[in-house]
Amino acid sequence: MQITLRQPDDWHLHLRDGDMLNAVAGVSAQHFGRALIMPNLVPPVVTGSDAIAYKSRIEAAVSRAMPGSSFQPLMTLYLTEQTSAEDVVNAAASGTILAVKLYPAGATTNSASGVTDVSRVMPVLESMAEHGVVLCVHGEVTDSNIDIFDREARFIDLVLDPLRRQLPELRVVMEHVTTRDGVQYVANSDTNLAATLTTHHLMINRNHLLVGGIRPHYYCLPIAKREEHRQALVAAACSGDARYFLGTDSAPHTRSTKESDCGCAGVFNAPNTMACLASVFEEAGALDNLEAFASLNGPAWYGLAPNEKTITLEKVGTPCVLPDPIVVGEDCVMPFDPARDIYWQVI
Ligand code: NCD
Ligand code: ZN
Repeated sequence: MQITLRQPDDWHLHLRDGDMLNAVAGVSAQHFGRALIMPNLVPPVVTGSDAIAYKSRIEAAVSRAMPGSSFQPLMTLYLTEQTSAEDVVNAAASGTILAVKLYPAGATTNSASGVTDVSRVMPVLESMAEHGVVLCVHGEVTDSNIDIFDREARFIDLVLDPLRRQLPELRVVMEHVTTRDGVQYVANSDTNLAATLTTHHLMINRNHLLVGGIRPHYYCLPIAKREEHRQALVAAACSGDARYFLGTDSAPHTRSTKESDCGCAGVFNAPNTMACLASVFEEAGALDNLEAFASLNGPAWYGLAPNEKTITLEKVGTPCVLPDPIVVGEDCVMPFDPARDIYWQVI
């Protein structure tokens, strides 16, 4: 069996910089037409000119890894409490950026320059609402009293819903939703709200992370939740509903920084995302909706045409081997292990 889809896009991708960028850029370029590039570098991508410079570093890395590739990085700015509304609006109007990313300060990898209180960035958000600039949100509260497994649900009640009531015209993407609460919140909203879903949160729950030994390569943020949440995510992704689309959150860290006494958060799923998704959608009896999720809903939300090219996935008789680790200097990045046999490959 084979299925052919419009070439997919990745609406949430970490490519990093320097040696890591050079090591991973070609992997995403091989499968995806475009990717929305997350700005959490050190220091972060804050201004329009930072985004222009980072985009050209990405393009250089892609052409080295895959000469002639038509892969397009789409840029975001990292929202800080010093961000200038004028710079954001100009960067969006000139096509330099497609969205702005809100990280609650301290929520995840390289989020220290993020936002401590949304009220401090209201003037920027108001300008974004006025000019139709999309806000991508890392939706977790950071209060140390709130349990890590509850941080997404609490963010909806304490931060996101109040913000959307105050500024209903703002177009918001809840990035990498991981809970039933998250998909229900999106399902119950009438306009201006969408969500990305990652490959790994459609495949693993918190038992994969914690049972029978701690598995640092499954540690990511937001953390994987209970199985009932995973099932709600699969139902949302497979529904065909235009408000859900693929954002892999592929987030490479070296093996030594993952397998550590304080391991980094992030799953590197860029090499096998499409094969994994075919498996998830097939199991849900929803292969017909894979194209909407991976290739159509995202561009529609961002007002872009779908890719012209296509990709073909083929069902094979024996389980595929895991992709090889990606070498970075003396270290490597371990690809996502989907914890089950995968019988699909991109041909
Ligand atoms: C991401 C990273 O490593 O940059 N990590 C992760 O676990 N997802 C940051 C993020 O998207 O939260
Ligand atoms: Zn991310």
